[in-house]
Amino acid sequence: MSNLNHIALNNLPNHIAIIMDGNGRWAKKKGFLRAFGHENGTKSVRTTVEACAKLGVKNLTLYAFSTENWNRPKLEVETLMKLLVSSLRNELPTLQKNNIRLNSIGNLSLLPSSIQKELEDVISKTKNNTHMTLTLALSYGSREELLNVVKKISDKVKNNIISTDAIDESIINQHLYTHDLPDVDLLIRTSGEHRISNFLLWQIAYAEFYFTEVLWPDFTEENLYEAIISYQKRERRFGKTSEQIDTKSTK
Ligand code: IPE
Ligand code: IPE
Ligand code: MG
Repeated sequence: MSNLNHIALNNLPNHIAIIMDGNGRWAKKKGFLRAFGHENGTKSVRTTVEACAKLGVKNLTLYAFSTENWNRPKLEVETLMKLLVSSLRNELPTLQKNNIRLNSIGNLSLLPSSIQKELEDVISKTKNNTHMTLTLALSYGSREELLNVVKKISDKVKNNIISTDAIDESIINQHLYTHDLPDVDLLIRTSGEHRISNFLLWQIAYAEFYFTEVLWPDFTEENLYEAIISYQKRERRFGKTSEQIDTKSTK
């Protein structure tokens, strides 16, 4: 029986973020080049996007390429970039069919212009879609994002646009790449690694973490459901006591 039957549709995470890891090891295990793993990883992207849309998850953010990934061998970076352009082109009908808006976060100016164009095109064609927001983190690094926030806010203080006293969490949120997204509720990382790798450090402050040994190209709908079921079994206390959560009181 599918795990789908065990999911409470009235308690879905509003924002799922995924560190899609293990493509290289998946390919190596099978005796192929790492590129083959990346190619197969795109199938898991499609499955996951469609499964989230089908369930009714409102926000899905996928870590596709980190600022640190620029340090990989040139050929691997090129392969990843090519895959990205072709996936964007191929996935447009799926996004439209499922009423999904594409969004991106990261230092996009570092991406090859062909990708920037393709991205802009898909983002603009899907901008009025309302069922789900799919955010691709590309050339994304959380420290860089936070550094930029500090610079942007400092400039505003220097130019008397805001005062130091007025800086609060919401001002910081407004200056993040993720300014139009809610905090992450569920963070999934595949491939057995238990680390964050510079992903959404501010936004995961109260996220529930789910780690699985499954390598990204093997990640299925059922694996996604397992992660959501695990999330739904947890009690999110946000600093309060269990009793406060049970009674919904503020005592
Ligand atoms: C994730 O898989 C994809 C990217 C980081 C772009 P990896 O390429 O990191 O695969 P492993 O971790 O080497 O197996
Ligand atoms: C994190 O995976 C980045 C993406 C999934 C895009 P990595 O495989 O690059 O992370 P590390 O280097 O093992 O921490
Ligand atoms: Mg990896």
